[in-house]
Amino acid sequence: MEVRPPLVDPEATARSGSAEPTTVTEQVKVPVGPGPDGSRPDAALAVEHLTKRFGDRVAFDDVSFKVGYGEVFGFLGPNGAGKTTTVRTLGTLIAPSSGSASVAGIPLSAKNGSAIRSRISMMPESPGLYVRLTVTENLQCFAGLYDLDDVPGRIGRALRAVNLEDRARDLCGSLSKGLRQRVALARALLNDPAVLFLDEPTSGLDPVATREVHELISSLREQGVTIFLTTHRLEEAERLCDRVAILNTTLRLIGRPDELRQQLFRRSLDVRLRAPLGDPGDVLGAVPEIERWEQTPSGYALIVPDPDLAAPAVARALVRAGADVLSIAESHHSLEDVYLELVNEDVEAKAR
Ligand SMILES: Nc1ncnc2c1ncn2[C@@H]1O[C@H](COP(=O)(O)OP(=O)(O)OP(=O)(O)O)[C@@H](O)[C@H]1O
Ligand SMILES: [Mg+2]
Repeated sequence: MEVRPPLVDPEATARSGSAEPTTVTEQVKVPVGPGPDGSRPDAALAVEHLTKRFGDRVAFDDVSFKVGYGEVFGFLGPNGAGKTTTVRTLGTLIAPSSGSASVAGIPLSAKNGSAIRSRISMMPESPGLYVRLTVTENLQCFAGLYDLDDVPGRIGRALRAVNLEDRARDLCGSLSKGLRQRVALARALLNDPAVLFLDEPTSGLDPVATREVHELISSLREQGVTIFLTTHRLEEAERLCDRVAILNTTLRLIGRPDELRQQLFRRSLDVRLRAPLGDPGDVLGAVPEIERWEQTPSGYALIVPDPDLAAPAVARALVRAGADVLSIAESHHSLEDVYLELVNEDVEAKAR
C-alpha cells in the first residue's frame, strides 16, 4: 500500500533541528464535508492487525482496536513503543507494512489519502511552524492547503480556542515552546476535524498551559470531536480519556482505566494500626473473608474478594484482638500503577 507524502515533511523538520518545516512536498485542495456516502460509520477509527516495519525494526506489530465517535482515546507506552508511528500511519503520512484500518470511516489507502486528511487533523510531537511567519500567516498558509470557507473566521475561532488572539501578529520564531504548541493546536482545529490526533500535546508545557490544553480537549470532546491522544502523563490519560490502550510494540491492554485496574490488580484493604499485632496469623487467618495478607510498614495489606464484605469483619476481628485501628481502606491503584506493572513485565520478559 502506498500513501501520498506528507504536506510538511516532519523528518526534514526534525533533521534541520528547527521548528520551521523545510519542505512542503504537496499542496492538496480537498473538499471538506460528511463521509463519502453522507453516512456516519460506527467507528471513527477501526484498526485491524496493523503492522509497521522499518527494515528489520518493527515499530508496532499486529495492532487492532476501535475508537468510537466522540471518544477520547489515550495511547500510552514507553519511548519507542510505536505511538507516533501509529499516529503517522493512521494520519496517512506513512504506509503500513500490513493490516488494514479505516479512519473517519474511510479505508486507509493511497487513493483515499486526501479524503482522510480532509476529515482529520494531527498535532505532531514538534509543532512544525514557519518561524519567520506570524501566527496568523502560519494559519493562513496551512488553511490554504484545504478547500476551506471563511478562513479569517476559522482562524479567529481557532486562536480564541487556544487563547492566543493577542499573539496573532507575533512571529512564530519569537514564541515560547508552549505558545508554539498552542499555535500547532490552533492549526489542527482549522478544518473542524472529525478525528484529532494529538501526539503528546502537553509535553514541555507548564501547569497552567497544560490545564488550558486539558480544558480545550474536554470542550472539543463536548463538541463530539474524536480525540486520539498519545501521552506519557498518566494522570492526564486517567483524567481525560474514556478508554486507554497501552502499547509496547504490540498492544498490551485496552479498556477503561477502572477496568484495567481491576484486570491487573486484586482488590485489597490497607489496614493501619497504632501498633503491630502480637500474632497477626491468628487474628487475620481467622477471618474467612481474607484470602491472603502481608505486613506493610504501616500495618497490613489484605487481599479480599469483596472489600465491602471484608472490611466490617476485619474491623471486628481487630477490635476483638485489642488492636488500635487507625484506618481500614480499600487500596486504590492508579493508571500509573497499571502502566508500570505492564511495562515492568515487558522489561522482565526481555531480560529472561
Ligand atoms: N522513520 C523511521 N525509520 C526507522 N525507524 C523508525 C522510524 N520512525 C520510527 N522508527 C522506530 O520505530 C520505533 C517506534 O518509534 P515511535 O516514534 O513510534 O515511538 P513512540 O512510542 O512515539 O516513542 P516516544 O514516546 O519516544 O515518542 C522506534 O524504535 C523508532 O526508532
Ligand atoms: Mg512519539
